[in-house]
Amino acid sequence: MAAASPGVVLAPGLVHHPGYLDAAARDRLWTELARAMDEAPPYTPRMPRTGRPFSVRMTNCGALGWVSDEVGYRYQAHHPETGRPWPAMPSLALRAWADLSGYHAEPEACLVNLYGPAARMGLHQDRDEEALDAPVVSLSLGATALFRYGGLRRGDPTRSVRLRSGDALVIGGVSRLIHHGVDRLLPAVVDLLGEAGDATIPAVMADRLPAGGRCNLTLRRVRVPMRSGHA
Ligand code: SIN
Ligand code: MN
Repeated sequence: MAAASPGVVLAPGLVHHPGYLDAAARDRLWTELARAMDEAPPYTPRMPRTGRPFSVRMTNCGALGWVSDEVGYRYQAHHPETGRPWPAMPSLALRAWADLSGYHAEPEACLVNLYGPAARMGLHQDRDEEALDAPVVSLSLGATALFRYGGLRRGDPTRSVRLRSGDALVIGGVSRLIHHGVDRLLPAVVDLLGEAGDATIPAVMADRLPAGGRCNLTLRRVRVPMRSGHA
């Protein structure tokens, strides 16, 4: 794991840490994720009401997981298909939270998004958490994503940034509720500035993610932590 650099401030509270995970850390995280997926297989979430499937597959680690189906968006303590509790958070994800979040309590949810080469995620806000004073910490592995971010209002102007394998992004402070999404993944040949080898999906994940795919983790604090030490 790279030392936590001050990062590149894209907007107040929105900080990009390119190359946060070095090659050894990326390998370890892939392995930890493959193990977690043995316990909590990826599933296809569905849009509230319409039931339309997402193009991204998901699973979660931690005490709570974010799920979406006809009933709505929510956090819950069990996998929607197996009914089992979510597996423990990858240790590297906890380290990243400790390094980058600046928050005084542990994360409770680690949403794992799996993108096939053609998957995308429309502009949205992460606002199903009660603890909105905690940032969302994102870690990316695999193919480079064209990540789009705007402002607090849906119609605000947007910009994009490339999130490469090993990059971290902290979405906090006054940017905590910005709109964001993933326009598309870049084929390795298009990402001329990236390290082509980074985008390779390791054998341990090959049956879960096709070549040219991407995995993104978002760590979140969901419930407001109990403050100790008060009378
Ligand atoms: C998300 O907004 O949940 C995921 C963003 C990403 O894949 O980078
Ligand atoms: Mn999001």
